[in-house]
Amino acid sequence: MGRLDDRVAIVTGSGRGIGRATALRLARDGAAVVVNDIDPEPAAETVALIEAEGGRALLHVANTIDLEQAHGLAKAAVDGFGKLDILVNNAGTTRDKMFHGMTDELFDFVVDTNLKTAYHSTLAAMPFMREVAKAEIAASGKPAYQRKIVFTSSVAALMGNPGQFNYTAAKGAIISVTKTLARELGPFGINVNAVAPGFIETRLTQAKTDDDVYGIPEQMRQMSLMLIGLGRLGIPEDIANVHAFLVSSDADFISGVTIPVTGGQLGGM
Ligand SMILES: NC(=O)c1ccc[n+]([C@@H]2O[C@H](COP(=O)([O-])OP(=O)(O)OC[C@H]3O[C@@H](n4cnc5c(N)ncnc54)[C@H](O)[C@@H]3O)[C@@H](O)[C@H]2O)c1
Repeated sequence: MGRLDDRVAIVTGSGRGIGRATALRLARDGAAVVVNDIDPEPAAETVALIEAEGGRALLHVANTIDLEQAHGLAKAAVDGFGKLDILVNNAGTTRDKMFHGMTDELFDFVVDTNLKTAYHSTLAAMPFMREVAKAEIAASGKPAYQRKIVFTSSVAALMGNPGQFNYTAAKGAIISVTKTLARELGPFGINVNAVAPGFIETRLTQAKTDDDVYGIPEQMRQMSLMLIGLGRLGIPEDIANVHAFLVSSDADFISGVTIPVTGGQLGGM
């Protein structure tokens, strides 16, 4: 008996990193998982990994910066597994640039990828989360169970981070919209929370050379490590564990909060 048995979840950006670890973990806890990413190959690999463990998953390649594609994603959950209970808005990326060199192109791309994907995915989920809960309340006075939405902020939004004006604009907004939606959707039994990961070892934080799009210079990686109280960098499973808690009934009375998952990083607690 898993704590997410009979639940249906979407995890955006689950082809790699934190999203993949979360999709695997939710499936292990019993959920049927829609694996969404813009990159089909790693996403198909996540589905295969879940199925190899006996879990249920389906692949849906979509970029939910586009609202139509977001509607397609929500529909894929309902067509494939009959309903939608859990949405983990994890998709995101970085394109770092010191502020004096910031361009509209870099700003819009990063804000769209981190914030608009989450906005559209959540909006598209409303008919299957809010409206279904509303009908349950009309029929029997309360929703059948609590549904869950999780957003992804960042320690960068809690501390500020040089070179990440665009990223912190999006990740800071995530903290605010989490509070707003928690208040709007609470009456429908929908919990809305966010995680603020610290330094987690993924493509986004790998050691970077000047030519790489993703990553962080090695010197910065070492500096970050020195700031982390627990003395190690995080791994994707550290965030997946918190996602699994937040989307479970164990967290039924938690809503509107952003949980820092940083290993006790100085300034990011
Ligand atoms: N790694 C960290 O240290 C760290 C720290 C704080 C916050 N985060 C956040 O955690 C989330 C996951 O990051 P990660 O480190 O696992 O990165 P990652 O690059 O390893 O994985 C992100 C995945 O999202 C996908 N993706 C990108 N744009 C997308 C879109 N428009 N639609 C669907 N999928 C899309 C990518 O293809 C990729 O597979 C992001 O929101 C990131 O900002 C990460």
